Amino acid sequence: MKHNLNTLNAKKREGVPLAWLTCYDYSFASVLNSTEIDLILVGDSGGMVVLGYNDTVPVTMDEMIMLASSVRRGAPDKFIVDDMPKGSYEASDELAINNAMRFCKEAGCDAIKLEGGLAMASRIKAIVQSGIPVIGHLGLTPQSASSFGGYRIIGKKEDEVLKMKSDLVVLENSGVFGILIEAVPPNIAKNVAKEARSIIFGIGAGKHLDGQLLILHDLLGIFPKFRPKFAKCYIPDVLGAFSDQIEKTDDLVALGRSERKDGLAEISRLAVEKFILEVRSGQFPTEIFSY
Ligand code: KIV
Repeated sequence: MKHNLNTLNAKKREGVPLAWLTCYDYSFASVLNSTEIDLILVGDSGGMVVLGYNDTVPVTMDEMIMLASSVRRGAPDKFIVDDMPKGSYEASDELAINNAMRFCKEAGCDAIKLEGGLAMASRIKAIVQSGIPVIGHLGLTPQSASSFGGYRIIGKKEDEVLKMKSDLVVLENSGVFGILIEAVPPNIAKNVAKEARSIIFGIGAGKHLDGQLLILHDLLGIFPKFRPKFAKCYIPDVLGAFSDQIEKTDDLVALGRSERKDGLAEISRLAVEKFILEVRSGQFPTEIFSY
């Protein structure tokens, strides 16, 4: 089923946490399309996990369009959010609208995400007024990490909490329908989100929010460089079920040819389904996957 803003908001009202995963290519998007995942993010993290940059800063708009359009082709039935890369929106409202519109026309996005609080209010208003839904991003904002001391947990200091709270109100008044909070201790994130009208997603921000985002490559355990504390790899949880399926089959070649159920696509699908189940039932993230 493909969500829209009404069905996403309904999930918030019903208190059913939304499951959100990143994706960057056609084949994995096809896997996600066959699951009940609620949203897909074509994150600028693709610059790291697919293109091999050291951080998210270098990835360009053209590279993001290539990744995002391949994800749309693989997941025609999913609500896809495309991530505005650094340099594609900060300079002016006009630049922000033009690049958000590229995601819309060239990659078929349903919404875009961009980082920042008060300073981005005008950009958000401009994009929303041009008819493209926006998700904001607070807490750790990797594109500007160097200006606040690198990748670190946000919200341990009182002024950071006050800033997040006031930024959240500014983003909502600017028209976002959702906000992602990254790398914030669970109780702080809960406190920041408690009066939010928009859908509050978390990544490394504990379980008390309306939805959970995870990087697909962390869930699959295939990014070689580092894995943040909140990133759970789901592969060990599902290998047993995969082996059982294989053992029950007497024609492995047919299983592979006709259903593509003999390899990584099927293992990934099982892992994604398990993530969805744990998010919806409130089991993920547990304390060991929170700051
Ligand atoms: O690009 C991305 O995947 C993100 C997450 C790290 C929050 O923005």
